[in-house]
Amino acid sequence: MKPYDIIAKKRDGFKLSENEIDFMVQGFTNNKIPDYQMAAFLMSIYIKGLDNEEISHLTNSMIYSGEQINLSAIEGIKIDKHSTGGVGDKTTLVIVPMIAAAGIKVPKISGRGLGHTGGTIDKLESIDGFNTNLSKEKFIRIVNKTGAAIIGQTEKLVPADKKIYALRDVTATVSSIPLIASSVMSKKIASGADKIVLDVKVGSGAFMKSLSSAKKLAEIMVSLGNNLGRKTVAIISNMNQPLGFAVGNSLEVIEAIDTLKDKGPSDLKELCLAIGSEMLILGGITNSQNEAINILNDIIKTGKGLNKFREIIKEQDGNEEVIFSYDKLPQANLTDEYTAKQKGYIHKIDALRIGEAVKCLGAGRITKDTQIDLSVGVILNYKVGDLVKEEDVLIKIFANDKEKIKQAKSIFDEAVEIKESKPEQEPFIYEVIK
Ligand code: URA
Repeated sequence: MKPYDIIAKKRDGFKLSENEIDFMVQGFTNNKIPDYQMAAFLMSIYIKGLDNEEISHLTNSMIYSGEQINLSAIEGIKIDKHSTGGVGDKTTLVIVPMIAAAGIKVPKISGRGLGHTGGTIDKLESIDGFNTNLSKEKFIRIVNKTGAAIIGQTEKLVPADKKIYALRDVTATVSSIPLIASSVMSKKIASGADKIVLDVKVGSGAFMKSLSSAKKLAEIMVSLGNNLGRKTVAIISNMNQPLGFAVGNSLEVIEAIDTLKDKGPSDLKELCLAIGSEMLILGGITNSQNEAINILNDIIKTGKGLNKFREIIKEQDGNEEVIFSYDKLPQANLTDEYTAKQKGYIHKIDALRIGEAVKCLGAGRITKDTQIDLSVGVILNYKVGDLVKEEDVLIKIFANDKEKIKQAKSIFDEAVEIKESKPEQEPFIYEVIK
């Protein structure tokens, strides 16, 4: 078999065999196939797609590119969650401690930023000392002790995805149903959780732009999980505007902590309750959605979720003082404001553009080796549908470079739309696929 022939076969729209897919995945993982051929292969998949059988072969090949974590040393049912990626999506930081506080084990393996979207691992690394690179033994010990731990992908866990993910990020091959489905599900299966809740984003700031494509992605992932014996549920949620108000690594950590203090944005809380309640139901804590929501509300009100986050930070060697002293997080040197050019109702705060602007401020990777700036980002002051006056501050900017502020402001010109009429309200959670 030659990579050239397999790339050409997919480029011409033919179906690949299990062996051909495995040859590419293992060859790339073992450094036998160079980046340029894998990039062409990924682009051929991006353009021509894969059918369900090919997606299943790709997912399996990725799972077997490394080791599968055996979580049997963790007592009780283990539930994982994963988002397909959005802008301002800090749900993991809120949900993981809440679910652990409810008595379910959450051994969470998270990713870094991808494309214009942020990643949980980058966010957590803005907490001084927080170790996202624990040994398997320490990971299991912390989950058994506190109920949860959050780590990045290890070298051994789906190494194929680790390499492919980084290559997709810089070759415009992220928003592809087969590539996302295999990336997400290979990690979820290999990381050993019994049950999985997925948050599939749809809208301008998501990799799936239409509801039909998000639904298709959700259905494929749910059936990949269920076929491999891991009960999987997917929630489809709106990502046309950023989630919450904060976008940028340390700013999002603050907003997540505020949400655990019951002082967070209502859309973020609503989504955390929706995903969290599915996790409680899968975990057998209750079979009533209302009761699950009551349990989670109680966990927030009593401060149990916040305490759990503090415990997790401490166990993972992070500075737990951030819970009450936000100045312990990385601080940007410059602040600026973006103001409304006219009065009226906000019709659009385009999540893709906001994500791009925050990346341009320094929060995202431009190449695989970019050092990201954890302190920069934005705080939005409004949501779509809000009424504003001319000159109202729409966006507060946190940056370390005046030139980058200028560039970000010109992106905001395209991101924000204000009109005289009131916009129609869009659904926030579209559907739950079981
Ligand atoms: N999250 C992942 O883990 N992989 C993708 O491809 C997209 C989002």
